[in-house]
Amino acid sequence: MVTTRTLAWVAGLISVVVWRSGRVAQNSILTKHPFTEGYYGQGDFDTDCTIFKGGPDLKYCEDATFWDLLDARGEFVDRGLLFSCDANRKSWNTVMGPLRNPEPRGSLWLYEPDGKGRKGKVVPNPSKLKRLELRGYPAGHDFHPLGVEIYPSYAGNTSNLYVVNHARARTVIEQFTLSPSSPTVANYVRTLASPYFHSANALALTSPDSFYVTNDHLFTRRIPYLGHILPILESVFALPLSFVSHVTLSPSSSSEPPITTHQFSVLFVPFPNGIALSPDGTHVALASTTLGQIRIYTRNPATNELTRLIESVPVPFVPDNIRYTHDGTALVVAGHPHFPTLTALAANKAEVAPSWVVSIDMRPKKEGAQLKLDFDKGTPVPAKGKVPPVAGREVKTLFQSDGTGFSSSSTGVQDPVTGALYVTGLYAEGGVIVCHPSS
Ligand SMILES: *[C@@H]1O[C@H](CO)[C@@H](O)[C@H](O)[C@H]1NC(C)=O
Repeated sequence: MVTTRTLAWVAGLISVVVWRSGRVAQNSILTKHPFTEGYYGQGDFDTDCTIFKGGPDLKYCEDATFWDLLDARGEFVDRGLLFSCDANRKSWNTVMGPLRNPEPRGSLWLYEPDGKGRKGKVVPNPSKLKRLELRGYPAGHDFHPLGVEIYPSYAGNTSNLYVVNHARARTVIEQFTLSPSSPTVANYVRTLASPYFHSANALALTSPDSFYVTNDHLFTRRIPYLGHILPILESVFALPLSFVSHVTLSPSSSSEPPITTHQFSVLFVPFPNGIALSPDGTHVALASTTLGQIRIYTRNPATNELTRLIESVPVPFVPDNIRYTHDGTALVVAGHPHFPTLTALAANKAEVAPSWVVSIDMRPKKEGAQLKLDFDKGTPVPAKGKVPPVAGREVKTLFQSDGTGFSSSSTGVQDPVTGALYVTGLYAEGGVIVCHPSS
């Protein structure tokens, strides 16, 4: 009790110190913007966007990630898409509350888009959406998936799949394998537990057996008595208290402990959330939710060290998950433009919350890149005016909704072949929306 009280006191002190820096981000996300029902930058929301209907469990989806099927030389063959959803999120959310009932399990889904390798309009086909069976998953073990990442499959070999799981007693990471020969069966391998996963949120794989993992808070809602206050103080004041780790695992066949090395990659970050590895492995992007910015670090691929913070790009909302496009020329960032509504939604006191997905230009900067002042033109609520421009890192809206078109966007991913944009909604009744560029 003494230590918790001391921690609370220290937190209070730090709050005052960082109050001013925190306030900058708060201002833009406390304003209600006049969003339209739905806006899709590369087409028409009404005709080019479809919400998936996958039954009662396909809702409240947090993460989305591509599963690339490659040949032995690493050339593209086909691509699936995984979603992590939890229809029970309104009874169990260790990040935003409540902690009422951890019993009903969340779900993982595989979508196999039609039209492999084809450009142009592809009609979303919900019959290609399958719920994954979790084979061998321990009975009585909770399943509340958040961040999910899967290693590519080469020449049909199995892929390692990792899922952050906000289980009842503590947050853990589940390891599965998924094989292209029976792609709807996730075979349970083992549960990874560590004091450094206490509030794990998102993952970025660096090999089949290693990954970066973010912890969104130092203080979690699980803390007795103060669990209702400390995480909120940490968020509201954007306290730089949390961290990102890199973890390497032992082969699942060995009898060694699963985690062979743990290194701190970045310390003292306010609310680290989404994380993404650039396709060439030289950079890592990290979303700081409470600061409303994406931080870019250089990475040493040999050691996995994040060597330097090279830039921070502000976004006009609290960013959630982030993904590089396959060619590494852009980052897709999804998030929550009005945080109070999202909080009300989590507490079942609102119907919907607005959505916003942007891309950030990540192409190498040219010498003397000019500051483009007039950016994000043609968007109902442009990013311009809400965030300052960053030279060579133009922010452009891909998708936007007042919540009635699609609620509470948490991840956006773009298919490099078809151009389709998939967006998950943390509290969206249809958990995923797909928009195809009109050709
Ligand atoms: C599949 O093949 C790739 C490329 O050879 C390799 O890196 C990966 O470890 C293999 N996956 C498994 C689970 O063996």
